[in-house]
Amino acid sequence: MTRVLLTGGAGYIGSHTAVALIERGHEVVILDNFANSERDVPARLERLTGRANIPVIEADIRDTGAVSAALAAHPVEAVIHFAALKAVGESEADPLLYYDMNIIGTIRLLQAMQAQNVRRIVFSSSATVYGQPDSSPIPEDAPTRVQNIYGRTKLVMEDLISDLARTGKLQAAANLRYFNPVGAHPSAMIGETPRGVPNNLMPYVTQVATGERPHLNVFGNDYDTPDGTGVRDYIHVVDLARAHALALEHICANDVSLTVNLGTGTGISVLELVRAFERATGREIPLNIAPRRPGDVASYYANPDMAARVFGWQAALDVNDMCRDSWAWQARRAGINDI
Ligand SMILES: NC(=O)c1ccc[n+]([C@@H]2O[C@H](COP(=O)([O-])OP(=O)(O)OC[C@H]3O[C@@H](n4cnc5c(N)ncnc54)[C@H](O)[C@@H]3O)[C@@H](O)[C@H]2O)c1
Repeated sequence: MTRVLLTGGAGYIGSHTAVALIERGHEVVILDNFANSERDVPARLERLTGRANIPVIEADIRDTGAVSAALAAHPVEAVIHFAALKAVGESEADPLLYYDMNIIGTIRLLQAMQAQNVRRIVFSSSATVYGQPDSSPIPEDAPTRVQNIYGRTKLVMEDLISDLARTGKLQAAANLRYFNPVGAHPSAMIGETPRGVPNNLMPYVTQVATGERPHLNVFGNDYDTPDGTGVRDYIHVVDLARAHALALEHICANDVSLTVNLGTGTGISVLELVRAFERATGREIPLNIAPRRPGDVASYYANPDMAARVFGWQAALDVNDMCRDSWAWQARRAGINDI
């Protein structure tokens, strides 16, 4: 059993990881400023897992004193670091906000960990660090060519953590490069709650299905892919959450550091995802073919072999599971009962 502090533990991926950790017998402490999550998430986690009194600290990761006090009050063996801002467009509009929240925030967190002698960390990185890859599947040793400020902050955060591991300040570290997380817990009790217009495809599709948005814009149908639309590696958030638990157990047991892709290794096109969603939900998604967006690439999917080889993780859920669970979550929030 490991006791772990989850920064951003009330958020989308953090909350699912809390469930996965508790199911595997670990203890979690949540630290979140609730800037992008709902305050009743910890209570929902308690109902979902049957675990009472999950400690919750409302604090900003940039507040070293508060994080240090939280670690002193709740001694942990490791931190899983989710807390960050994550919108590419916003990062280009306000770079300093992203440097401050993501990079300075991570430095402050690492200082608090050092002050409390917590020397193991699992970090939420992103496949966005590969930028425009030469080809897919993308292995971990592909060049990193960040294309935007958000991606830059992720790469700097990875480097900070790798440097501390290399110099022995951290005992064990995992930089996890997520591909495209989608879906929700099958209970429909936790899921993604994007504010405003969703940046990602699946939340947008679910909002078209509820009637909140009239149609889905498909940005480009003339890519060099089987149906002309962009191909991505969608990964069910429940699979992703389980990967965190396995990565944590691996680095804690072996005191090692690694950087690893988390994807299914299977590319799914926009049209394939939409058709799977329509099949899974019985709802039609009207489409509008729009011009390509600058910076988008035709295909982007993981070589996921390292995660399988090193800590025995493979995605188990497919695109149908992703669509069914995304819809169950969104429909429940929208008060739709025909599922
Ligand atoms: N969702 C994706 O598509 C995706 C893909 C790749 C990587 N990531 C990374 O995974 C991590 C989690 O993403 P998510 O989708 O769960 O996002 P999310 O916004 O749902 O979760 C982040 C959580 O961190 C909290 N938070 C933000 N800034 C904070 C701060 N300064 N102090 C304390 N808490 C703070 C938010 O309130 C939220 O609960 C992020 O680091 C993100 O960059 C996400």
